Amino acid sequence: MQTAHLIYFSPTGTTRKVSEAIAQGFGAGKVIHYDVTLPGSKFDTVLTDGVAIIGIPVYAGRVPKLCWQRLQAITATHIPAVLVALYGNREFDDALVELRDLSVAKGFNVIAAGVFIGEHSLSTPTQLIAAGRPDAQDLKLAIQFGQQVAAKIASEHFDTLDMEGHVPYKERPKFGGQAPETDAEQCIFCGKCAEVCPLGIIAVDLLITTNAENCIMCCACVKACEVQARHFRHPQIEEKRAILQKNCSKPKTPEIFI
Ligand SMILES: Cc1cc2nc3c(=O)[nH]c(=O)nc-3n(C[C@H](O)[C@H](O)[C@H](O)COP(=O)(O)O)c2cc1C
Repeated sequence: MQTAHLIYFSPTGTTRKVSEAIAQGFGAGKVIHYDVTLPGSKFDTVLTDGVAIIGIPVYAGRVPKLCWQRLQAITATHIPAVLVALYGNREFDDALVELRDLSVAKGFNVIAAGVFIGEHSLSTPTQLIAAGRPDAQDLKLAIQFGQQVAAKIASEHFDTLDMEGHVPYKERPKFGGQAPETDAEQCIFCGKCAEVCPLGIIAVDLLITTNAENCIMCCACVKACEVQARHFRHPQIEEKRAILQKNCSKPKTPEIFI
């Protein structure tokens, strides 16, 4: 049984969840995690055997820049790779073809890809956007996808793979300057928000302060807060959240390219 190299960036955990389900369906003898979500997580390695499952969340229809920077030092000697893009029920746009191009340039042999739906980073308990995704049906499909991948590898037929998306990729908007904030009256200073921040930009002292300039708006801090003291209520974000809620409420279905 082959080793599965699980490579992912997943601030709110949906990419990790789906990637793990695919590995489960694949029936790997051993699963090695390369989690590049937190600051300082960097793996300097050349993968020479087994299968890679590379998972990314979709940010503005693209692969998050930070995520790819953190994967810089992982390369491969043409081992098979399965790509996974998690999106929040809007669109995945060019993220999958970008992930394919980046993976091929690193020496992976891309044999399959899937797009799955995860709860949107901006979803709140009162304004739901793809809340609860991936759900049981999504995870069942992810496991089945893993089984299909195992069958494809056993067949040794690796035809060219078609997938949705465009080159040149859509333009990336500029991020930064907006960040979630903490309601001091509700905060219990547990430090969980700072622990989960992929940028390490939250400081816990007499107050919780956030260096908004470098924030990627992943909302890991908001979702990790057990007393709901952390909110993302910038007017532009409120507007975006309302648009997403209005236009992206019809649940989308995962798609497989194999
Ligand atoms: C800055 C930013 C941009 C996003 N852009 C998109 C997008 O273009 N399309 C979409 O459907 N979801 C988008 N999302 C939602 C995420 O793709 C979704 O929440 C994903 O499940 C997060 O993955 P994670 O749980 O592994 O962190 C965006 C989220 C953030 C923070």
